[in-house]
Amino acid sequence: MATATTTESPGFDLSLTEEQALVQRTARDFAREKVLPKAAEIDEHKKVPRELIDEMGKLGFMGIDVPERYGGSGMDRLTYMLVVEEINRACASTGVALCTHVSLGIEPILLFGTDAQKEKWLPDLARGQKIACFALSEPASGSDAAAMRTSARRDGDAWVLNGTKNFITNGSIAEVAIVFAQTDPALKHKGIAAFVVEKNTRGLVVGKLENKLGIRGSDTAQLVFQDCRVPAANLIGAVGDGFKIALATLDGGRISIAAQAVGIARACLEDALAYAKEREAFGKKIADFQAIQWKLADMATEIDAARLLTWKAATLKDQGAPHTLEAAEAKLFASDIAVKAARDCVQIFGGYGYLADFPAERHYRDAKITEIYEGTSEIMKLVIAEQVLAE
Ligand code: CAA
Repeated sequence: MATATTTESPGFDLSLTEEQALVQRTARDFAREKVLPKAAEIDEHKKVPRELIDEMGKLGFMGIDVPERYGGSGMDRLTYMLVVEEINRACASTGVALCTHVSLGIEPILLFGTDAQKEKWLPDLARGQKIACFALSEPASGSDAAAMRTSARRDGDAWVLNGTKNFITNGSIAEVAIVFAQTDPALKHKGIAAFVVEKNTRGLVVGKLENKLGIRGSDTAQLVFQDCRVPAANLIGAVGDGFKIALATLDGGRISIAAQAVGIARACLEDALAYAKEREAFGKKIADFQAIQWKLADMATEIDAARLLTWKAATLKDQGAPHTLEAAEAKLFASDIAVKAARDCVQIFGGYGYLADFPAERHYRDAKITEIYEGTSEIMKLVIAEQVLAE
């Protein structure tokens, strides 16, 4: 058993438990047999079939870290990361539907909800019978999340929401949305509040569906709130806690995007390897050329390094230790190496890498988003620098 410790952070065990290894095998088999064969079709038709989400629900993936008393699988974050890597190795669109639901949709209720809120929403979400989304970004506020304009005004036993949320993953398919809104602009981030808004609430309209470069099967929508009355009981935490709820949730979400990036990079390596062992040029397999071997060696090394950063961040979260720094490091590094692996994968496939008939071009398009959503690489560097300087 190998362990790695530093003086700054708790140690973590690199070996998987029997249960973790079993879940990893289950996710790998499911991804290979049920998700991978549909990946090209999901990309082309721009839709993840609901049956796939239902199947992930039945396997316990949609509520993987939700306690069993709320209908979840009660597993740790590291186990969740194993599942995320496997699903994303097969299809990044399906992978992000899962990550957004678990890391961003369920997590605020799990971490900050009251017992009554957990009992009300978690069981259906944990079984995948309902899907969740996270509505933070707006047309004019992305990286500067605190500058949101969506307003929340108290009116009797309800809050009235007005505004538009942008780039919402699972936005049109979600039955439950975690929505952040400003209760008093003068208070800046200290005026932000978080709400659970159900899909059928009057005044909530699904707006434009986005047409994207990659993860084309993933649902990305605008959510428009027009005098949308949300029961006061749906407020998560206190008024003014919203910004910290959003950032704490994103700390966890960034770890799962790192795992997604590792999954995409692994797809690049495995597909490039298979092709390089088949394709011949100048009388031998292209895998015999050092130019190709160096690319494969870089990919393999960087994937292992990215996975270790991801597991470290997940383990810290499991231990209840601070993980803002480690989550940002994992996302920054893993997304960078995923984009690089995708570029090299296309290059190894050569002309065929540029064709939609082969998976390389899909990996190339899918990888890019990992450098953008749930905090751009520039924001990750800002977070890392702030943490390092604070030491
Ligand atoms: N957890 C909890 N609280 C935190 C925190 C964290 N990780 N980081 C900061 N805070 C707290 C601070 O302690 C501070 O608290 P006090 O008021 O008590 O002092 C407060 O939050 C404000 O902190 P800052 O002054 O540092 O905040 P800022 O406005 O400068 O923003 C930022 C910091 C890092 C840039 C942040 O806004 C950020 O992460 N931006 C990126 C947003 C993002 O990731 N958006 C992605 C949207 S989700 C998505 O992609 C959609 C999807 O569907 C996939």
